[in-house]
Amino acid sequence: MNTQLLPAGEESIRLAGRLLRQGQVVGFPTETVYGLAASSFDGAAVRKIFQAKGRPQDNPLISHIAGWEMLDGLWAEVTPQARRLAQAFWPGPLSIILPRGGRIADEVCAGLPTASVRWPSDPVAQAVIRAAGVPLAAPSANRSGSPSPTTAQDVLDDMDGRVPLIIDGGPCTVGVESTVISLAGEVPVLLRPGYITKEQAEAVLGCEVVLSDAVLHKLKEGERAASPGMKYKHYAPNARVVIIKGNFAAYRSYVAAHSGPGVFGLCFAGEEAYLPVPCVVYGAEGDEPSQARALFSALRRLDERGAQVAYARCPHESGVALAVYNRLLRAAGFQVVTV
Ligand code: TXA
Ligand code: MG
Repeated sequence: MNTQLLPAGEESIRLAGRLLRQGQVVGFPTETVYGLAASSFDGAAVRKIFQAKGRPQDNPLISHIAGWEMLDGLWAEVTPQARRLAQAFWPGPLSIILPRGGRIADEVCAGLPTASVRWPSDPVAQAVIRAAGVPLAAPSANRSGSPSPTTAQDVLDDMDGRVPLIIDGGPCTVGVESTVISLAGEVPVLLRPGYITKEQAEAVLGCEVVLSDAVLHKLKEGERAASPGMKYKHYAPNARVVIIKGNFAAYRSYVAAHSGPGVFGLCFAGEEAYLPVPCVVYGAEGDEPSQARALFSALRRLDERGAQVAYARCPHESGVALAVYNRLLRAAGFQVVTV
């Protein structure tokens, strides 16, 4: 298949809408990461997403809308809690899970009785959804297991020959995937941290949002995942990543003691001048949104530069940095060294 990469514009978006209505898969930008879209109502089209990504069949997809009327048929009912969260954070990087409605294709929910929905804020994402005229099921547009794409070039690197069209809307402004909150159980549960924080959601809901165990811990053998996506090794570059937890001085000593061919630092801006190994920077210390924006492309740069081992500075475990830490933990296969 020939893959076209076109800049976002009236004509390319019209083409995207036409392909999506015909049951094709299209790569498109959102504020979080690039997505790989197909109609949420077309099971055969959704199966093509799983094929293009090499995604396990039991991992459900988020449906993307661009207007309240598009919720129709995705959820069984819009609960008061969901309405409150959606009014506070949509359009934006928050996905909400509720019992599924009757129109959504089974393939989107991957056998679960629930459906995840979000309304992205990115104007190009909204234009593509409106051009399609239906909700779009869209996972991140990477090959399953590799870092999520934050530029159209990243999507092309992973999807060339696998999808007919990729729309280029420039680099993503958030850089990590949406916050995922389930409202399908007795209490709200944060399944995946993102740019909308646990604290922000709690302030709007007026109650605690429980942090799913899987956010910071590896699932035990045979344990059932609340969110199937969390059981797979994710976001991993070819390089072995190890998180080094401690202050910069301790980090620098550790890296110096472990330097050698193929060893890289994955550090914050300005620190590379003080490290005895080649470095890739991911944002600035204390500037959590900058870390979120840079992390996935930093993981891709490590591979391009032939890194075999990357010792990573450790982000915080709260606020937006919790999202960064969660992704980095998975990239590192949960390998953390405290210094
Ligand atoms: O920011 C994002 O959410 C991006 C952009 C493209 O919108 N999409 C994205 O999709 O990250 P994906 O498929 O890479 O991640 C979706 C995550 C997976 O971990 C999946 O298991 C979980 O959300 N998920 C989706 N529907 C679910 C459901 N009904 N119950 C539990 N987890 C669900
Ligand atoms: Mg993904």
